[in-house]
Amino acid sequence: MKDFRVLFFRFILLFCFLLYCNSEIVSTSYGDLDGDHIGEFHLFKKIPFARPPLGKLRFQKPEEPEKWDGVRNAKEYGPACLSNSTVTTSPQKWVDEDCLHVNIFTSSKCLKSKDCAVVTYFHGGGLHYDSAVMFNDTYLLGTFVNQDVILVIPAFRLGIFSHFVVEDQSVAPNNLAIYDILRALEFVKSEIHNFGGHNKKVTIMGHSYGGALASILTFSNRINNNLSLFQRAISMSSGHDFDPLEFQIQKTRRFAKRAKCVVPEEIGKKLTSSQKDLYSMKCLQNKDSMELLRIQRELEEEGYPTYAFTVQREPLFQEVPYHQFMNTSKHIPILTGCTRYEMDHSPSDKPIGESVGYDNPIEVDMKYRKDLKEGNYDFGNHADETQAIMVQVKIRAERMIRNGVPSYLYEYTYPKHAKHTDDLFYLMGVHRFDKDENEEKLARVYEKIFMNFAKYGEPREGFEVANIENTSYYDVYWNEETGERPQMKNGFEEKILNYWLKHMVEYDRNLTASRKKESVKPAMRFYKESSKQHQLPYMFISLMLVSSIFMAGCLFGRCCCNGSRNRNLYIRIDGNDVPAGTLKSF
Ligand SMILES: *[C@@H]1O[C@H](CO)[C@@H](O)[C@H](O)[C@H]1NC(C)=O
Ligand SMILES: *[C@@H]1O[C@H](CO)[C@@H](O)[C@H](O)[C@H]1NC(C)=O
Ligand SMILES: *[C@@H]1O[C@H](CO)[C@@H](O)[C@H](O)[C@H]1NC(C)=O
Ligand SMILES: *[C@@H]1O[C@H](CO)[C@@H](O)[C@H](O)[C@H]1NC(C)=O
Ligand SMILES: *[C@@H]1O[C@H](CO)[C@@H](O)[C@H](O)[C@H]1NC(C)=O
Ligand SMILES: *[C@@H]1O[C@H](CO)[C@@H](O)[C@H](O)[C@H]1NC(C)=O
Repeated sequence: MKDFRVLFFRFILLFCFLLYCNSEIVSTSYGDLDGDHIGEFHLFKKIPFARPPLGKLRFQKPEEPEKWDGVRNAKEYGPACLSNSTVTTSPQKWVDEDCLHVNIFTSSKCLKSKDCAVVTYFHGGGLHYDSAVMFNDTYLLGTFVNQDVILVIPAFRLGIFSHFVVEDQSVAPNNLAIYDILRALEFVKSEIHNFGGHNKKVTIMGHSYGGALASILTFSNRINNNLSLFQRAISMSSGHDFDPLEFQIQKTRRFAKRAKCVVPEEIGKKLTSSQKDLYSMKCLQNKDSMELLRIQRELEEEGYPTYAFTVQREPLFQEVPYHQFMNTSKHIPILTGCTRYEMDHSPSDKPIGESVGYDNPIEVDMKYRKDLKEGNYDFGNHADETQAIMVQVKIRAERMIRNGVPSYLYEYTYPKHAKHTDDLFYLMGVHRFDKDENEEKLARVYEKIFMNFAKYGEPREGFEVANIENTSYYDVYWNEETGERPQMKNGFEEKILNYWLKHMVEYDRNLTASRKKESVKPAMRFYKESSKQHQLPYMFISLMLVSSIFMAGCLFGRCCCNGSRNRNLYIRIDGNDVPAGTLKSF
């Protein structure tokens, strides 16, 4: 009996010891963190990577976080950044302006080796909704950490909190969410070794608008030129959409007006526009964050465009035409692709020409509508938004290869679940469905190729570098009955790409050439003259053309002059449930 007691006592001691060992304390430059653990896996949540963006820091660049004393609890998620959109059916449960935290998932093995590859994942939602705290921990540990890849999910400001966009960036910088992301990447660079990661093995990754972010960060020549922030990129199911600056400024003015934060007219006369913007900003900084969120929601419910997306503007993005933008000399291997049906379930008109950088986007769009109507173009029943994704995926891969950088192109073609976000389930555990036996295998394939890419810079498993001549791609398909397996194929979405990247390019060139011959000037552009000539394609929209389209009676059921130009929303979703047909355009 006594022996048993001693044994029992020893057992308790051992148990406590194990428990203590499992409670992993990690030290960072800012202070110590006490994380959560599940077996050999360790989770560190709500780690501040920036000072809370409150008060005078609202609408300003994120600053380095302050150091803390003692051990900070890192076991629970913090709040999501402020959002309350009508677009998503899965709003965040806890939101707060103090949200600039990063969540890190690692393992005992990585903590020991300090050599694990790192993926920094950007959530989707168009910088308007969704969050860094919406994923399923257990699932992520299985896909990433179990293959010795550390996962980092940073938050970034959303909606008006990242979109107070004014002309004078000394008042407030544009693209605040991008600054948040860059701050998070700096944090990863300086701190990830404490979590077992290697800061020269960092992959940025995103899906939908998160993928667009990964892509524009990769192709920007203004950041990460010495590759110290990240070395590889994954862009899933995403297009390429910048918002025109004018449009963003207009939205900011509307917000200030609604919040009664516009300079009174009698004073306004004496002020420059920068001073007026400064007044608006200070006024908005003094409002309660929940009040701003309420106004944002109100404007959205009234049908105004949301506070979303990015602006192609210095100092973060070179202000050059699209084709020049997509031509970087940085050596960042990229893995990019899409699913077969992406947005086919909720078709909406998207001016594809705008995001491919034609000289004559409006005429290109008109020709496209005409070809569709007259049946001159076999578009495989793909919605505009699906086509736009396919075109971007191809251009991205091709541009990198032309510059000698390995790039990998895939298409997920197993038809049962091949819509936008379906394949995200395999990696991030959101948008769940019941997998059939082939889909079980496909989930393993995804895990393998994505984690291999993060670890080795190549997906392996027979997935080769894309070839420009035959547009080879990795066809992700599995069929137990026929024995079909994922394999390299030629001619990635050939019909779509021939149309947009050969036929339409020629048409556009012909048009430009005939314009030059007749010396028709692309008169009256929608931008302010500045010392530097802006040459963004969307700025070529001439008033004349817009009005002629208007007179043609708002062709194709779409009023081209409603100002919003129907910025498409396909790139926005990451959320849990976005049933087909609930996606709204503004
Ligand atoms: C979001 O907006 C709805 C409708 O106005 C409101 O009922 C809800 O309380 C808002 N949620 C938050 C977090 O502000
Ligand atoms: C999270 O993922 C695990 C592992 O796949 C699953 O068992 C669990 O049901 C998921 N939880 C939720 C809330 O979806
Ligand atoms: C890379 O560039 C950044 C920004 O220009 C600079 O701060 C950093 O020191 C550079 N790193 C290396 C390793 O050269
Ligand atoms: C890409 O950039 C290189 C070097 O700046 C230039 O020589 C080349 O013509 C560019 N390619 C395209 C397609 O713009
Ligand atoms: C595409 O062309 C390259 C180079 O000619 C070749 O190596 C590759 O095997 C081709 N791809 C396929 C799937 O046939
Ligand atoms: C472009 O012009 C050439 C020469 O006039 C013509 O043969 C070709 O069909 C035109 N292409 C398109 C797409 O309009």
